[in-house]
Amino acid sequence: MSTDASAPIAVIGTGYVGLVTAAGFAELGTEVWCVDVDADKIARLNRGEIPIYEPGLAESIDRSRARLHFGTELAPALEHARLLFVAVGTPPTYSGDADLSAVHAVVDAMPASDHHALVMKSTVPVGTGSSIKRIFTEHGKSGFAYVSCPEFLKEGSALEDFLKPDRVVIGDDGNWAGDAVAELYAPLDAPLVRTDVASAEMVKLAANAFLATKISFINEIANVCEETGADVLEVARGMGLDQRIGKHFLRPGIGFGGSCFPKDVSALKQLAGNSGYHFQLLTAVIEVNELQKRRVVGKLQKHLGSLVGKRIALLGLAFKPDTDDMREASSLVLSARLQADGATVTAYDPVAEEEARKLMTGVRFADSALGALEGVDACVLVTEWKEFAALNWAEVADTMAGSLIVDGRNCADRDAVLAAGLSYEGIGR
Ligand SMILES: NC(=O)c1ccc[n+]([C@@H]2O[C@H](COP(=O)([O-])OP(=O)(O)OC[C@H]3O[C@@H](n4cnc5c(N)ncnc54)[C@H](O)[C@@H]3O)[C@@H](O)[C@H]2O)c1
Repeated sequence: MSTDASAPIAVIGTGYVGLVTAAGFAELGTEVWCVDVDADKIARLNRGEIPIYEPGLAESIDRSRARLHFGTELAPALEHARLLFVAVGTPPTYSGDADLSAVHAVVDAMPASDHHALVMKSTVPVGTGSSIKRIFTEHGKSGFAYVSCPEFLKEGSALEDFLKPDRVVIGDDGNWAGDAVAELYAPLDAPLVRTDVASAEMVKLAANAFLATKISFINEIANVCEETGADVLEVARGMGLDQRIGKHFLRPGIGFGGSCFPKDVSALKQLAGNSGYHFQLLTAVIEVNELQKRRVVGKLQKHLGSLVGKRIALLGLAFKPDTDDMREASSLVLSARLQADGATVTAYDPVAEEEARKLMTGVRFADSALGALEGVDACVLVTEWKEFAALNWAEVADTMAGSLIVDGRNCADRDAVLAAGLSYEGIGR
């Protein structure tokens, strides 16, 4: 049994992944039935508001509005669609394992059917597909098909990543559903990796763990560069041109954050541990990342001495530019750490302030970069938004009381900063 590529699909969970997946397939001409338990989010979507910041997403949804349906009930989705993409959250638990309660809520809500399939986009531990199939069988729903189709999009360029993926990974049991998912993705003309469910689940975790390892690796090289007089930017350029290494994810900074890397690295480490294997390398990757965020404090102390009573501005709060996602952002650790050391913190982000206000206490939020820099002793560039690289450093020097710029992402022009009479501390330079 097959499903033609223009058949309607459903997307369960309309967060960063779900909404982009829905918009992407709708752009390709597919009718998409979106379901979310968050009634407020659905009401906003039905009013034409886009609840997250993601470049191009609002315009895309606007273009395809006639093909997109938003609701809180599963029934219309089950009625119209055979493929039900699951994009609910799988946040970390206290133990570091993935919290699968939202995934299981979806699984439990499925009726017995021999013409529907769950297509798992959420990032889940290896073995989840197998345990869901067992649950289906135990509840008399063994006809319900299951496909693992992990998502690799990057926030900030999510829609573009959806439309031009490096590859599409489909793990299935060789029944109609895997072929139907492959047909749906066919217009994207992307390399296809057809495999079993467990291997597809592992591709996602291993890919994120590898990228995180690359970041922690270059951060450690940066730290050694600081001790030895080398410039990590030159080193990364020289390394990255080696095709076996590649230039991506060799940008030193103050550590990775976001909704994926920290939790997926930890989930893979836990998964290994739960099956009796100690994944030493990932333990180090996580530790290096945590220490990297705190190195900023050492850099500030090197110039300012004690931080008690010092005023420090954080520019950029989202975990990376072009998103409003604050999950596991380095700015959260920094603002808490600086305040614990007695500093007062002002902050500015072009789009993430609303989210940041929910998570950061004791911080004064400004409406502009210069507003945050008014009278401060030091400025920390935390997220490399383009507007910070374009700052007028002479104006910055006039606005600040002190002169220290800590460039946590090596995104400012060091010479321009120094020419304005400011002092500059990068990462690994
Ligand atoms: N954000 C990323 O960059 C990214 C990239 C690749 C993979 N992933 C993975 O995709 C999954 C979703 O991530 P996200 O960032 O989109 O999460 P998110 O928190 O932005 O969105 C999840 C949505 O699911 C909804 N939801 C929760 N329970 C539900 C239920 N029972 N029925 C219907 N909707 C429900 C929530 O209300 C929310 O709107 C996670 O497993 C994540 O690891 C995320």
